[in-house]
Amino acid sequence: MAKPLISFVLLCLSLAVFSSGSPHDELIKYGFPVGLLPAEVESYTINATSGRFLINLGDACRITLPPDNYLATYSQKITGKIVENRIAELDGISVRAFFKWWGITGIKSNGQDLTFEVGVVTAKYPSKNFDKAPDCEGRSSSS
Ligand SMILES: *[C@@H]1O[C@H](CO)[C@@H](O)[C@H](O)[C@H]1NC(C)=O
Repeated sequence: MAKPLISFVLLCLSLAVFSSGSPHDELIKYGFPVGLLPAEVESYTINATSGRFLINLGDACRITLPPDNYLATYSQKITGKIVENRIAELDGISVRAFFKWWGITGIKSNGQDLTFEVGVVTAKYPSKNFDKAPDCEGRSSSS
């Protein structure tokens, strides 16, 4: 009777250790640069089977994205689905362009470039612009 219990406890422990890593490492693993996420992350979970993830930043966060200095806001919670070179069903990241906020719905990577999807519109940027995880500039809720 004890054996299954022990393996269950071990499984839980290994899952706990796994999810205490950094979501930035997960990005690398799936072919993305770390700079897509702010440096400060409170917690995250990812289902390695489905690729569904939830990132908790602790608070909303504002970042100026290179290279065109678009203002981006990150919600406290970011959700989506990640597989090799592709993030889909993304929710929680918006960019300011043409006097409007646009939700980024997906991101693709080919190693060299990132393609950001805003609904059916896409924009391509070199991945090297996102090599470093940026610091939050301020809390979006305060403006
Ligand atoms: C992970 O995703 C798979 C496939 O969708 C699902 O069967 C499984 O229950 C999920 N695991 C957890 C812990 O949510």
